[in-house]
Amino acid sequence: MDRIRIVGGNRLNGTIPISGAKNATLPLMIASLLTEETLTLENVPRLRDVAQLVHILGNHGVDYAVKGKRYGQDPLAGQTIHLTAGAIVDTVAPYDLVSKMRASFWVIGPLVARMGEARVSLPGGCAIGTRPVDLFIEGLEAMGADISLDQGYVIAKAPDGLKGAEYTFPKISVGATHTLLMAACLADGTTVLNNAAREPEVGDLANCLIKMGADISGVGTSTLVIKGKESLHGATHSVLPDRIEAGTYAMAVAMTGGEVMLKNGRADLLQSALDTLRDAGVTITETNEGISVARNGTALKPVDIETEPFPGFPTDLQAQFMALMTKADGVSRITETIFENRFMHVQELARLGADIQLDGQSAIVTGVDELKGAPVMATDLRASVSLVIAGLVADGETIVNRVYHLDRGFERLEEKLSRCGATIERISA
Ligand code: EPZ
Repeated sequence: MDRIRIVGGNRLNGTIPISGAKNATLPLMIASLLTEETLTLENVPRLRDVAQLVHILGNHGVDYAVKGKRYGQDPLAGQTIHLTAGAIVDTVAPYDLVSKMRASFWVIGPLVARMGEARVSLPGGCAIGTRPVDLFIEGLEAMGADISLDQGYVIAKAPDGLKGAEYTFPKISVGATHTLLMAACLADGTTVLNNAAREPEVGDLANCLIKMGADISGVGTSTLVIKGKESLHGATHSVLPDRIEAGTYAMAVAMTGGEVMLKNGRADLLQSALDTLRDAGVTITETNEGISVARNGTALKPVDIETEPFPGFPTDLQAQFMALMTKADGVSRITETIFENRFMHVQELARLGADIQLDGQSAIVTGVDELKGAPVMATDLRASVSLVIAGLVADGETIVNRVYHLDRGFERLEEKLSRCGATIERISA
């Protein structure tokens, strides 16, 4: 199994290109199930989760093609992929595929909307919390689907098609919003989704669906109104930049000091995290090229945060911010409100010398003068990258094990960081 070796102590200076967003790419790819025509996606990141979803969609009959690289093209540029669900050959999403990636459960929406049936394995537990699917079931039932559970599978049936309905999410869910939004595009009549997730990735999906012929209003707000269509058609859509990748590198620069341009990073997708970094003493400048992040000499101030749905501080940056606060000049309180078990990085950060006490859903972080390199491992994507951030300033060598977590969501992480001066390399097993 690959590992990442980091020797801490170098400042980061230069430019880091921000890739297309993983969490937009996945629902966009799933949207290809809604039409028999080709959906072309540009700026797609090269990630393990994307490859895994290609495999899952292939099982349903989706043809996949990737546009070849042109001579002289930046190796870090996103790829263009073509997905064609000419015929859905299978409406079953089996356990061995769905259990590898929770987002693949979302196929249930387009499959039942287009085919009148779907049998999708429950995704099961996950390292960051229980993550149930009750909202998906409630929402699809509101749209007239008959749902039953059998041997770990959710079976959704709507032989005469889904019907437009009004549904109010009792709790904000990104995945359930994606799923019901896609399903509603092919339902008979108008669907109103209240208390919908406002994450930019939902807006990106909605904009792509509109290009595919869907009638959606309220994009970017918590009320989405969808007038169902009999069919959708092909389209070309460019994936929006990854705000979590941008926020992660912003925190890496805040940690090491130096100055880095996050090329193509969009500050408007990341205001809450950027404001938090400013409060911590980091200089953030929004330019046409991207987001410039600098810290030169100023100490890091402690800042309290609480994770919230968009536009609040994202849970997907909580671990990275905690890593940063381990070196702040004082005590900060970090509260996780989205997932009940997203503190798996605490123990590993402690191995590097961090001082963190857990208090229910909060972590109390007391900044230390020095972190010390050590072998570490993490059980999820964002936790793993928080260890990389800590390793960049830890004294000596840090080895991050289980790199496959990082490969799920960070494209060429070690290359992007080493180009800016970090001593970081992949050790292939
Ligand atoms: C998406 O997960 C992201 N994944 C997650 O990113 C992100 O952390 C999360 O949204 C929150 O922003 C992708 O986009 C692929 P939710 P999702 O449904 O959709 C509860 C990463 O690191 N809930 O918004 O699965 C749930 O348990 C990943 O890139 C129900 O109770 O998250 C959680 O507490 C990790 N019932 C809360 O809602 C349901 O039916 C929010 O989850 C559905 C969700």
